[in-house]
Amino acid sequence: MRITVIGASGPTGKVFCQLATERGHDVAAYVRSAERMAGVPAAKVYAGGPFDAATLEPAVEGSQAVLIAFGLKGARRTPLYSKGTQLVVDTMHRLGPRRLVVVSEAAYAPHLAGWLARTVSSAYHLTQRPIITERRLQDDIVTTSGLDWTIVRPGLLTDAPASTAASASLEPFRRFTRVSRTALCLSILEWLSDPDTFGHDLYY
Ligand SMILES: NC(=O)c1ccc[n+]([C@@H]2O[C@H](COP(=O)([O-])OP(=O)(O)OC[C@H]3O[C@@H](n4cnc5c(N)ncnc54)[C@H](OP(=O)(O)O)[C@@H]3O)[C@@H](O)[C@H]2O)c1
Repeated sequence: MRITVIGASGPTGKVFCQLATERGHDVAAYVRSAERMAGVPAAKVYAGGPFDAATLEPAVEGSQAVLIAFGLKGARRTPLYSKGTQLVVDTMHRLGPRRLVVVSEAAYAPHLAGWLARTVSSAYHLTQRPIITERRLQDDIVTTSGLDWTIVRPGLLTDAPASTAASASLEPFRRFTRVSRTALCLSILEWLSDPDTFGHDLYY
């Protein structure tokens, strides 16, 4: 399958590119800087900004699936999750691929369950309000896109090695969880073509 990975230069994006390539997929990596992909296997690397339709289009053309793995760093008011995701959705509608997987987070309602998770995340809410606002906008864009979407919601991501896929839940966890990026990406690869995961949030 040809898979476009947006934000392929991040830690999760790189792991996904490696695992997908090893399993025979044709990875089209979309990144801000091609230099950040040195040593990472991908069939093709496309460089462009998150709001640049002209550079995104060739990266998505011919793909059957798109993975959004970017994460906002630095300027917290950049509309990466809203405007960046809207551009991906619009490009997919124009070019044809229907399968969209988004790596998001679980640190805001209704994705938090239980008093412990809510209490611990309250500090995150105080300091990261613009990011949570952006995440909610992203959720609206993805869930109303009409595409075959899945939103992946890990707790804390780690770089621990893994040889098997992580198991996901359809319900938010009542405790803080951590999952290795490798196990998460193996899981995504397993159910990329599984219609049972379409239209769902998956918690890790
Ligand atoms: N880290 C965790 O414990 C954790 C927990 C739960 C959820 N998540 C979410 O999981 C996803 C993947 O996390 P991660 O730790 O692998 O990656 P990350 O560090 O959150 O994101 C890195 C990627 O995002 C890109 N990026 C950052 N700011 C950008 C901007 N303003 N415009 C365009 N691209 C931008 C980076 O590009 P450059 O390489 O060019 O900088 C890189 O490709 C993220 O959405 C993150 O929020 C992370």
